[in-house]
Amino acid sequence: LDRFCFGLEPQTQGRFTSTASAVKAQTENTTAKAAKESKTFQAIQEERREQAERSVLISCPSKINENKFLDYLSKHGTINNHFFYNSYGAYAVVEFSSRESIASLKESTNIPAVEHEAAVPFKSRLLSLKWPGSQSSNHPMPKFKVQSPPSISEISQLLSEKNSIDEQLQCLTETLELTEENVSLRFLVCSLLRDIAGAYFPECIIRPFGSTVNSFGKLGCDVDMILDLDGIYATSQKKGSGLSLEYQVKRGASERAVTQSILSVIGKCVDQFGPGCVGVQNILQARCPLVRFSHQPSGFQCDLTANNRVAMKSSELLFLYGQLDPRVRHLVFSVRCWARVHSITSSIPGAWITNFSLTVMVVFFLQQRGPPILPTLDRLKELAGPSDKCVIEGNDCTIVSDLSKITLQQNTDTLEKLLQEFFEFYGNFPFNKASINIRKGKEQTKPETTALYIQNPFETTLNISKNVNATQLERFVALCRESAWLLQQKENLNQSSDSPWGFAALLVPSVSSGAGVKNRRKRKLEPASSRIKNLLDSLKIKGGETVAKKGSA
Ligand code: CTP
Ligand code: MG
Repeated sequence: LDRFCFGLEPQTQGRFTSTASAVKAQTENTTAKAAKESKTFQAIQEERREQAERSVLISCPSKINENKFLDYLSKHGTINNHFFYNSYGAYAVVEFSSRESIASLKESTNIPAVEHEAAVPFKSRLLSLKWPGSQSSNHPMPKFKVQSPPSISEISQLLSEKNSIDEQLQCLTETLELTEENVSLRFLVCSLLRDIAGAYFPECIIRPFGSTVNSFGKLGCDVDMILDLDGIYATSQKKGSGLSLEYQVKRGASERAVTQSILSVIGKCVDQFGPGCVGVQNILQARCPLVRFSHQPSGFQCDLTANNRVAMKSSELLFLYGQLDPRVRHLVFSVRCWARVHSITSSIPGAWITNFSLTVMVVFFLQQRGPPILPTLDRLKELAGPSDKCVIEGNDCTIVSDLSKITLQQNTDTLEKLLQEFFEFYGNFPFNKASINIRKGKEQTKPETTALYIQNPFETTLNISKNVNATQLERFVALCRESAWLLQQKENLNQSSDSPWGFAALLVPSVSSGAGVKNRRKRKLEPASSRIKNLLDSLKIKGGETVAKKGSA
């Protein structure tokens, strides 16, 4: 081995973005597995966090000899798991069975010598492996795990090969969902960041929240992180030693001011010392102050927040809803994908509907089925045990953590039916006067005149879609109506045709989004006036049915 002169160096530079490929390895998702074994959300997160602390990220040559690589690293301890991926260069995530191996590995690293420059001697767990000279190539190449989603045309092709809309929606989830490896990498990036923030707050934890953990994350989505200092507050409250931090401890005018000052310092530190962290922006004036940056070696866009416990709780809530019935995730993935393709959602902040809002809208819709597919948030609170009690800044965020306590009603609707009815439901929803409330599972009178009012599940005086303007809401409604209509057209249910059918037909650029319609056979045949008349007729009928169904539910 020594003839390869392995040398591990802390990496000071990385490369950005990840490669796209249609092929996604079939991996068992441990989140789903853990949920089946009825582990709580917190237990799953803790397990992942602990694994990440025993892991390293290594940049390595792409023609690496996997066996030799593993043999070499095994000198530092037993390896539990590892995988390779490409992100403008090959990387390996290696999970050891013990944290001591990390210390041993770090011990053996050297700081790279850079000409005309000097390196900051920060020993992180982002390393690079040097292979001077070429090595023999008659060894198998390692498998590289894909970290980005396939393109829409690849997805459309894949869906067209399925036999039913239900199969299409299941396939869509399997194609887009975060893989086991991708989730590990996300936790590892949080853990690497924690090492930096730990310079100031040794007891801090950086936890992922949002779509990384709520079970609705799509490959390529951002990593939302929380700098969690609660442990420090909790332990310092327990000790009654007579010593306190009071004397000349720094204070801020408000919690928000303290959060801003902590994040600005951590942001600076990430910028100056964080290997692979580039494009650091402090966005401290936002309602929820944050530090945004790109982590090049993973290709992730990261948003670091602090003092944001309610958001973690809403991630837990969505996770819980996602675990209750497989149809929830299939419907959410489909609606999110549909919305993204038609630019209803966007990666740029603005007056658009967000994925978070869309997910809550799907939950609300599923609470309205007859019988309901999902329980109300009030019901989840009633089922909570004493240890589930959770009050954050005066907001009661209590929800049951033991999924087995929740009994569901028998509802056998197919995904096809649910998708169709979702579009009809929101195509006809009285947005002008009603708000969406998943706590009650019922429409409520809108407390303000914003275009779209979706009550924040835990901070009940807030509207999660306050940013949405009337134009964006109208686009959403128009697209729902059009999609409801398209799903009723026989030609779109014809699997033997060459054009996209079923759900794939809904991903073709639409009239409502202002894009071309040339791929639609029906559109080519009929004049615009007749299309619009058909659409209106179909809505009149369907609108009546929807109201009737809701009344009887
Ligand atoms: N959040 C919130 N209120 C909002 C927006 C966001 O409480 N008005 C919380 C939610 O818990 C959400 C998380 O912040 O899940 C992250 O927000 P965002 O990144 O916008 O949504 P994701 O669910 O992560 O979806 P995406 O895949 O678009 O990142
Ligand atoms: Mg997010």
